[in-house]
Amino acid sequence: TPIAVLISGRGSNMRALIEACARPDFPAKIVLVLSNRPDAVGLQVAHDAGLATLAIDHKAFGKDRESHERAVNDAVAKSGASLICLAGYMRVLTPFLVNAWEGKMLNIHPSLLPAFPGLHTHERAIAEGASEHGCTVHLVTAGVDEGPILGQARVPVLANDTADSLAARVLEQEHLLYPNVLKRFLA
Ligand code: GRF
Repeated sequence: TPIAVLISGRGSNMRALIEACARPDFPAKIVLVLSNRPDAVGLQVAHDAGLATLAIDHKAFGKDRESHERAVNDAVAKSGASLICLAGYMRVLTPFLVNAWEGKMLNIHPSLLPAFPGLHTHERAIAEGASEHGCTVHLVTAGVDEGPILGQARVPVLANDTADSLAARVLEQEHLLYPNVLKRFLA
């Protein structure tokens, strides 16, 4: 299955997907890595891996989220991708893109949804005294971080955790979870 990966930053989940797609038995192939930030480190990583990359800077579209998304959608359609994987894509989507890719767009979120949708999930898990935390891969629907859950991975929250130490523990699981769920989803 041809997939497009959308990123905004360092792209470590994208890298995990690149590595998974390199395995002979993996049922997906990355045909485009697209970033809304031209300076995203992950774009260079993808380029160095020999993948097609594209930056579509949301700032060039002012406040018009939908016209930015139309440009993104056109590029993804042109790539031939039939599935989108959001991987640290830090834009809230409008109904335009959500509806265009209904059932065909996955996201990874750094919490055990429905706990802690939105930002700063690790800080909030610690502040709330959660004993467990983790990550979720879900289908994207109109509500932010609300779509059907496809898979989760759990980690313990340790007594001396900081947001950074907890984020690192979760991230390790994200890199395993996303390829696993994608594979199962495509099977
Ligand atoms: C990850 O924690 C992801 O779950 C969240 O943003 C972070 C992106 O990291 N949505 P990376 O760009 O994949 O390294």
